[in-house]
Amino acid sequence: LWPRINPPLQFGETMPASDLQTVTDVTHWDDNLFSFHVTRPESLRFRSGEFVMIGLPDDNGKPLLRAYSIAAPFWADELEFYSIKVENGPLTSRLRHIKPGDEIILRPKPVGTLVHDALLPGKRLWLLATGTGFAPFASILRDVETYERFEQVIVMHACRTASELAYGASVIAALPETPLVDELCNGRVLYYPTTTREPSAQMGRITDTIASGQVFRDLGVDAFDPARDRAMVCGSYAFNVDAKALLERLGLREGANSEPREFVVEKAFVGDGV
Ligand code: FAD
Ligand code: A2P
Repeated sequence: LWPRINPPLQFGETMPASDLQTVTDVTHWDDNLFSFHVTRPESLRFRSGEFVMIGLPDDNGKPLLRAYSIAAPFWADELEFYSIKVENGPLTSRLRHIKPGDEIILRPKPVGTLVHDALLPGKRLWLLATGTGFAPFASILRDVETYERFEQVIVMHACRTASELAYGASVIAALPETPLVDELCNGRVLYYPTTTREPSAQMGRITDTIASGQVFRDLGVDAFDPARDRAMVCGSYAFNVDAKALLERLGLREGANSEPREFVVEKAFVGDGV
């Protein structure tokens, strides 16, 4: 299914008239999280790590849209999304019920800062995610460019409970069988999942385990070096603020599409403090 890169439009072929895409499968990871695939618009080109607006019609038939990171890599035949189920959330209280064959709205205008173009070349790439902030990294981890640009990729994912880590763990476990990156990623991805509110093998906030040096000791790797390390940060507003401050203390500077530097940040959702 996946490795087919969408063929260019043929002469005389028209652009799709609507923004509707068909759901092809849905996986519920726990009571609060699910992922799903939808058909990909022929015309959609995106960079791994970008987000689009997706949604469903509201009661009046008007589009109810929210930002969603595309969890699939740029080369994928279908698009993948990873979603929270917010209790009484306008969109997700509906979206959580989608099943194969249903249609969702997808506005094909991808944007975002969690892209390789916004980072200077380096040796190690740190992907720092809390909660559904893992979604854009599911894309980045399955992109060949990630392994062309970096020797090592270190994935830190912190969640309150172990069940919230399941989707990320499955993406990483499947990398050796993922088309295009299967051989490239061999031995080059280090995974550091932690819980913060439920006992597990590794516990602690990402910012704490970096600041204390625990993650470096546990993984047996050198501490941050701005000359070599690059980072992408995606989580809650509070996490992003604290992670940015920590990375800046370690000597890294925030980059953007227009000005690539040592790290980039994007919100996983708009919530408290925004
Ligand atoms: P909303 O009214 O949008 O949100 C209600 C409240 O729920 C928020 O105020 C916040 O406190 C909380 N909340 C919303 N989203 C989350 C979340 N993801 N994790 C924890 N708490 C949350 N959501 C995803 O599930 N997957 C994604 O890949 C994703 N990518 C995003 C990318 C960007 C750039 C932004 C800005 C947001 C992204 N979101 C993502 C959040 C998404 O846009 C919606 O907020 C979410 O789907 C909930 O929609 P809702 O209408 O049900 O509730
Ligand atoms: P904690 O349980 O200690 O708050 P949330 O579900 O609230 O978005 O949190 C997801 C994960 O992000 C949790 O493990 C949470 O840890 C962690 N987290 C929340 N805020 C911060 C922050 N400011 N700095 C580091 N980690 C954070």
